[in-house]
Amino acid sequence: MTVPARARQRAADLREQINQHNYRYYVLDDPVISDAEYDRLLRELQELESKYPALITADSPTQRVGAQPLSSFAEVKHKVPMLSLSNAFDENEVIAFDRRIRERAELGVVEYVAEPKMDGLAVSLSYEHGVLVRGATRGDGTTGEDVTQNIKTIRSIPLRLLGNRHPRSIEVRGEVFMTHTGFLALNERQRNAGLKEFVNPRNAAAGSLRQLDPKLTAERPLQMFCYAAGEVENARMPETQHELLRQLRAWGLAASPLAALVKGVDQCLAYYRDLVESRKSLSYPIDGVVYKVNSLRLQRTLGAVSRAPRWALAHKFPAEEETTIVNAIEVQVGRTGAITPVARLEPVFVGGVTVSNATLHNRAEIERLDVKIGDTVVVRRAGDVIPEIVKVVKSRRPRTAKRFRFPDRCPVCRSEIVYEGGEGIIARCSGGLYCSAQRKEMLKHFASRRAMDIDGLGDKIIDQLVEAGMVEDAGDLYALTAAQLASLDRLAEKSARNLINALERSKWTTLSRFLFALGISQVGETTARQLAHHYGSLRAVMDATEDELQSLTDIGPIVAANIHMFFRQPHNEQVIDKLRQRGVVWPETKQSKQDPSSLPLSGKTMVLTGTLSAMTRDEAKTKLQRLGAKVTGSVSRKTDYVIVGADPGSKASKAEQLGIEMLDEAQFIQLLAEHRVK
Ligand code: IVH
Repeated sequence: MTVPARARQRAADLREQINQHNYRYYVLDDPVISDAEYDRLLRELQELESKYPALITADSPTQRVGAQPLSSFAEVKHKVPMLSLSNAFDENEVIAFDRRIRERAELGVVEYVAEPKMDGLAVSLSYEHGVLVRGATRGDGTTGEDVTQNIKTIRSIPLRLLGNRHPRSIEVRGEVFMTHTGFLALNERQRNAGLKEFVNPRNAAAGSLRQLDPKLTAERPLQMFCYAAGEVENARMPETQHELLRQLRAWGLAASPLAALVKGVDQCLAYYRDLVESRKSLSYPIDGVVYKVNSLRLQRTLGAVSRAPRWALAHKFPAEEETTIVNAIEVQVGRTGAITPVARLEPVFVGGVTVSNATLHNRAEIERLDVKIGDTVVVRRAGDVIPEIVKVVKSRRPRTAKRFRFPDRCPVCRSEIVYEGGEGIIARCSGGLYCSAQRKEMLKHFASRRAMDIDGLGDKIIDQLVEAGMVEDAGDLYALTAAQLASLDRLAEKSARNLINALERSKWTTLSRFLFALGISQVGETTARQLAHHYGSLRAVMDATEDELQSLTDIGPIVAANIHMFFRQPHNEQVIDKLRQRGVVWPETKQSKQDPSSLPLSGKTMVLTGTLSAMTRDEAKTKLQRLGAKVTGSVSRKTDYVIVGADPGSKASKAEQLGIEMLDEAQFIQLLAEHRVK
């Protein structure tokens, strides 16, 4: 069938448009059309090509999938070997690398390109007259596998280079990888289909590229960043790595947008430190930085030793997984009595820190991992997350490995352990506040920064206070004296005084902090904030029914029941009363309508002078006004009280002359506390 000229033209237009959109999407990261529009263009081209098969070309975007499954991959000999990189694990090795290059090149400062080290697999692409003719894996560096059909399914790889001044032939190298979300979605599909999940995105990328059936590869979310050229025929190539990346992008090949020109080793290290920070927010996995001498001529002069170039270095991030030994398994008692098993590990450096404990979550997790005392395990710590055991290295299990038996009594207070939750996986100490471990945890939570923020009341001090019987509940904290505190181990007199001041400061708080500090099971900061905002006063929260509580977003039946139950415990009410009596106070909104003249300080004129440690003068002013006082700037006979902070000015002496009552900061806070707003 002859192809009408119009159809031929339209097919060419569509191809051009689709290639441009790919370029905008993958190289510029700036798409101008929606995925749906893109799909429409592709479909139109497919329809044209199926109507006029003569229109099909090898580099048509429709030809990405469609090839038949292979029975095995053919071998490919790389014309220029694919080298590997020397590694550096600390800054000194980077400094030594730079020194070697400066010495060899007799240069004062060397210019480098710093790029993220992509955590995928190296691939080589061959283009002839601008058309992709082959894709191969790195293999052992000399011989790889021909994965052309699979490479073609990767949309960020152009089937035809953009522009028209291409080398007669060029080999482009880079890394094929999978994004974190792509990896999670793939594993979810694998799981749902009852198939094996991949351990990490790199394995998933490698496994996907080595599928014999390209249709399977096409379903995998693979991408590629290019970073080098292999053999080039008949073309003038750029003279620097930085220019090379620009040229690759101009041809429609994606290169890392984070590649940057850096001068000297200091800028290399600064780049590394930045990337350590921004790594978390990247959508794809990286495992270090690669520094490359920018000048390609200097690269050639420097050459390679064994299989690694002298002109490049991989500065690796600390490994996130390591193996170590489980020395013991113990249980910890949390604030609400939850009993969590913890593995005590032979200390190991992983993810940038030394790890000696890993949580085992619950009984089910111990069973799932099948971990025993004495086992060799793989521990993982990525970013700031809690270290976890990934798996047991069964082949290294000693014959003496011991099974861990979950206790039936709390290791701290000997109360019985009850099991709850689905299949009884949550173990809880039934001792309640009788259990000193629970009391300690509850107090630690109460004092923590996001709760009452009692500066200096650390875990060790709380342990001692509970063990010495000085503190039973949070209310007792506010009756402590400096002398009592100074009697504790490792607490100097000055720190004891500071702690008393911090306790004093913490008394003026907010309703949401207070609610959070109470440590009601499953009431986190967000829920506490919501409760405070919605109800405005503690009384209103305490009086709320479960149904009312559930009308708040985020509060389901369990949390509502927890809140309701908490305030029905006489013990909890007592503690709350004690806290308020001892001066813990917060502003409340939505008070019952009140006659202003009935406010405790109405009709009183007050003056503030000096610096307060617990709040600014403005805050103090607002608080006084809320109690009905009139706050003025100067002392006169009409002044009723002067509140005197540190380093007071002339107002204090004037007040003294006039015989006006003066309050120091502690008395002022006491006053606020006494007149707590209901
Ligand atoms: S350059 C001769 N740049 O790291 C140097 N490699 O350990 C060729 N890799 O096989 C490699 N990101 O798979 C280079 N930006 C990057 C890289 C990178 C990841 C991989 C590549 C190579 C391995 C060497």
